Amino acid sequence: MASGTLHLPRRILLGVSGGIAAYKTAFLLRELVKAGAEVQVIMTPGAHDFITPLTLATLSGRPVLTDLVDRAGDGTWNDHVHLARWADALLIAPATANTLAKMAHGLCDNLLLACYLSMEDNAEGGRTPVFVAPAMDLEMYRDPATQANLDLLRSRGVVTIGPAHGELASGLNGEGRMTEPAEIAAFLAAHLLPLSPLKGRQVLITAGPTHEPIDPVRFIGNRSTGRMGFALAEEAALRGAQVTLVAGPVSLGIDRPGITRIDVQTAAQMYEACQAAFPTCELAILSAAVADWRMARPGSSKLKKVDGPLPLELEPTEDILAWCGRTKRGGQVLVGFALETDNELANARGKLERKNADLIVMNSLREAGAGFGHDTNRVTLLHRHTDPEALPLMSKARVAAAILDRAEKMIPDA
Ligand code: CTP
Repeated sequence: MASGTLHLPRRILLGVSGGIAAYKTAFLLRELVKAGAEVQVIMTPGAHDFITPLTLATLSGRPVLTDLVDRAGDGTWNDHVHLARWADALLIAPATANTLAKMAHGLCDNLLLACYLSMEDNAEGGRTPVFVAPAMDLEMYRDPATQANLDLLRSRGVVTIGPAHGELASGLNGEGRMTEPAEIAAFLAAHLLPLSPLKGRQVLITAGPTHEPIDPVRFIGNRSTGRMGFALAEEAALRGAQVTLVAGPVSLGIDRPGITRIDVQTAAQMYEACQAAFPTCELAILSAAVADWRMARPGSSKLKKVDGPLPLELEPTEDILAWCGRTKRGGQVLVGFALETDNELANARGKLERKNADLIVMNSLREAGAGFGHDTNRVTLLHRHTDPEALPLMSKARVAAAILDRAEKMIPDA
């Protein structure tokens, strides 16, 4: 496989355990990075005997991690839970007999094993995929303990890549060679990028708050950070969609091919951008926390302090979701968000009907770890014809994947 043609825009935790095949991991890492993957390398202490962290740090563009606590350095704690949540997949190459045995039996004496045990469940109850490319000498591979460990890991959903048959570092010939780097990268791409119905489709996403000016220095705003909408844009782009991301004032960056970002400040500007993009899109996900009111006549100069209450005349903003629902043509899929504090399900269902959406993603401000400013979210999905679907607390990236899993199935010919 020519690596130039491989496409793998995913976040990969690359675990390296201590075997001679670790020298090949440098080539594997290059293949993954060239294919568009973001790779975080985690080495076991034993792997340092076979390849230097400097090589892998240079190739990945990120510091290599080994310890839960960086005792030799500044005492940083490497958060295995965060790393596991960040990743779209964990690949361990080479996976030695020792690391496989520890994985099979739940041992956790290094950062790589802690990450493996922390890999997140997705909405369907499956785990973030874990791949291992075993590499060891023939007799070690054949040993019944190793075989039993591999069977146990496979029965838990771990995917094994190889090992290949051929000349081994010991001089023996047989099974135990690590699969060639280009083959591992191609295998990963085939498993992680099943052809999404979103490939090549136009997707509109709104994100973040809006700021409605009161005067040149003050505004009406809200606490939305835009993280959920940006996670949706990123996931849609990973699935091959052409994304128009209309973002309110947020402090987030996004750098992914396939995303056109339009920055706006006010609900009126967001409405205008959506009016231009909605007619040609096949899926629109309006996750922005749009202000419901704006000043009827914002001050052209700074309002002076007055004694007593300040009368502000407010007028409603355009309801962008409702406009999309009214002008929607057959085949367009419309997803809205609902942030509720009371009568959650009834209110959210009302929005589904009133705004003519196909799916409403309901957030509750009462849930710990959900809503504004968190990396995680717990949402309930309201469909038109089926019961509400309550998803567990997950990273916003996983919530985005779950929403897109549902939405992409509603697109005709998907
Ligand atoms: N929305 C929108 N334009 C607005 C207000 C809201 O497009 N001016 C969209 C949001 O992006 C979200 C959905 O409508 O997808 C629900 O927003 P929410 O504020 O929860 O609902 P409201 O219609 O404003 O109802 P209420 O404030 O009464 O709960």
